[in-house]
Amino acid sequence: MGIIITIASGKGGVGKTTVVANLGVALAKLGKKVLLIDADVAMANLSLILGLQMSPITLHEVLTGESTIDDAIYDGPGNVELIPSGLSLENYKKVDSARLKSIISTLKDKYDYILLDAAAGIEKNVQSALAAADHVLIVTTPDSPSVADALKTKIVAQKLGSKPIGIIINMIKKQKGEIEKKQLMKMMELPSYGEIPYDENVRQTFLEKKQEPVILRNINSPASKSFEKISQKMTGVKIVEKEKKESFLKRLLNKIFKRQGEPQ
Ligand SMILES: Nc1ncnc2c1ncn2[C@@H]1O[C@H](COP(=O)(O)OP(=O)(O)OP(=O)(O)O)[C@@H](O)[C@H]1O
Ligand SMILES: [Mg+2]
Repeated sequence: MGIIITIASGKGGVGKTTVVANLGVALAKLGKKVLLIDADVAMANLSLILGLQMSPITLHEVLTGESTIDDAIYDGPGNVELIPSGLSLENYKKVDSARLKSIISTLKDKYDYILLDAAAGIEKNVQSALAAADHVLIVTTPDSPSVADALKTKIVAQKLGSKPIGIIINMIKKQKGEIEKKQLMKMMELPSYGEIPYDENVRQTFLEKKQEPVILRNINSPASKSFEKISQKMTGVKIVEKEKKESFLKRLLNKIFKRQGEPQ
């Protein structure tokens, strides 16, 4: 049985879509079966990051009852699957997002993780995305307007019966005046699932010809490393550290044996 996690925020533009795409790929890299759903039915962005903007059947058609959910699932990059949202404003008006929860619950057995990309705010469609989740992860930047809005999201999620499990702090610049992780956790009364630095490599996604999440383009960028860490925290696996240790040990042993084999 999989777990449905909605990635939400109060304030817009704090990095929800970025987190969904990159965290999804990071979880898939750990061998998890991952489905990403663009639940931002008004301003669909997730398919743009994943380079799948031309998908003919989307969540819109599923929510209007024109298509089945299986017809709206596409193979994305990095072994993730995606249900995109539609770009048409016409269909958006007809969408009944209240059906989201019952529709998504039918997919639970097929995936380890279903990540929903919510819109900002607390309006009706956001509430549907929050209500559809088992757990909610709240993305915030380290400043007071973002945290104040994140608190509202937490309260709304609780009222709707889904569990806020933690926060993800994004775009950390380590500038004077930024709210520190410890204080942020205290204000939110939630643990931190990860801290992502401000990283120009993330923005590069839309400047490249082939649009891909940063974790696929530049695995060594600071943000990519953070996404890997978050995925490890979520799954309880420490694969990267282990691999690193092994390769270090391997390199050391190779060096020793090579030296021993070398002519004196
Ligand atoms: N860690 C980061 N470093 C640098 N830029 C980032 C980072 N995270 C996100 N961005 C950039 O910030 C912008 C907003 O990110 P994103 O679209 O993921 O936010 P969002 O919360 O989904 O926005 P919306 O509320 O509009 O849905 C994008 O241009 C993205 O590339
Ligand atoms: Mg978004």
